[in-house]
Amino acid sequence: MQMTDLLAKKRDGGVLSTEEIDFMIQGYTRGTIPDYQMSAMCMAILLRGMDERETLDMTMSMMRSGETLDLSPIRGIKADKHSTGGVGDKTSLILCPMVAAAGLKIAKMSGRGLGHTGGTIDKLESFPGFSTAISRETFFHSVNDIGIAIMGQTADLVPADKKIYALRDVTGTVPSIPLIVSSIMSKKLASGADVIVLDVKCGDGAFMKTEEDARTLAEGLTRVGRLAGRKCAAVITDMDQPLGYAVGNAVEVKEAIAVLRGEEEGDLLELCLTLGGCMLQEAGAAANAEEARARLLETIRDGSALRKLAELVHAQGGDERAVYDTGLLPDAKVKLEVPSEAAGYVRHIMAERVGLVSMHLGGGRATKEDVIDLSVGVVLHKKVGDRIERGESFGTIHASDPEKAARAAELLRACYELSDTPVERPPFIKAIIH
Ligand code: URA
Repeated sequence: MQMTDLLAKKRDGGVLSTEEIDFMIQGYTRGTIPDYQMSAMCMAILLRGMDERETLDMTMSMMRSGETLDLSPIRGIKADKHSTGGVGDKTSLILCPMVAAAGLKIAKMSGRGLGHTGGTIDKLESFPGFSTAISRETFFHSVNDIGIAIMGQTADLVPADKKIYALRDVTGTVPSIPLIVSSIMSKKLASGADVIVLDVKCGDGAFMKTEEDARTLAEGLTRVGRLAGRKCAAVITDMDQPLGYAVGNAVEVKEAIAVLRGEEEGDLLELCLTLGGCMLQEAGAAANAEEARARLLETIRDGSALRKLAELVHAQGGDERAVYDTGLLPDAKVKLEVPSEAAGYVRHIMAERVGLVSMHLGGGRATKEDVIDLSVGVVLHKKVGDRIERGESFGTIHASDPEKAARAAELLRACYELSDTPVERPPFIKAIIH
């Protein structure tokens, strides 16, 4: 088989066979197919597309390019979630303990990630002593024992995706639905869960800017998941403003704890109830959305979800007292309010730019080597639709020094657009795809 023949076939709109796709993915992972040929193939796929069978074959071949996690030593139904990424997204910190408290098993691999804030692992490291560098045995033991464990992503999970994604990033080939589907689903399938729920964001702060694109992606992801034999659902959510109020690391952990304590409602809680509801339904643990929602709300009301977070923190070496006393979490030296210069109603908050404020403060990573400051970030006080008076604060900057805080305040003010007339919030959950 020759890669040049496969390139010509896809260039002319042909359909690649299972064997051809496997030849290309395994060859590229091993290094027998060079970057320039794989770049050309990514562009041909972006322009010509792939049908359902090709996308599934590409996903499965990528999944097999490295080690896969066999979760069979864990008793019960294992659930996992993936988010296409958003600003202020601390969903896993709430959803995972809540769903584990409701009886499903959460055996999750998470990453650190690049971007405005750290990934779930960085956020969890706000608990002094917490570690995700745990052995397979400890991971399986914890999930069997307390229903939940979170482990750092191993280097050998889907090496094909690491190479292909790096290439796509520099060749203008990221926004291709079959390439995104195979990238996301190969990693999720390799992680071994029975139930996979996907949070597909759309809007300003998201990868998919329109609801139509988000729906196409969500349908592609769930179809491949189901064809691969897993239970799969997706939720399309609005990312036209940050999720919840906090953007950073320890500030997001504090917000997650507030939600688990039943002290905060709104879009963040709604998202966790919807994703968790899909998980319980797909797992057959709830007959319908209402029953699932009631079960999850009960884990907040009776304190079992908060206790589950404390058990997770304790099992992985962290100080679980910080779950009940957030004063033990990292706290920034400087706090600065950001007063509005005019009165009005919040029309829009540029999510992406709020993320950049957190980045400016040192809360995110531009390169893998960057060290992030867990204590810094932004806590918004106003969301879309809220009324703000002149002199009232848009939010609080949490910074390591006064200069950075002052610059961040200017940047945050510029993220807000006000209207003279009342603003209605668009629906946050746009669609649920079972
Ligand atoms: N996230 C991924 O993991 N892969 C993509 O291709 C896009 C988003």
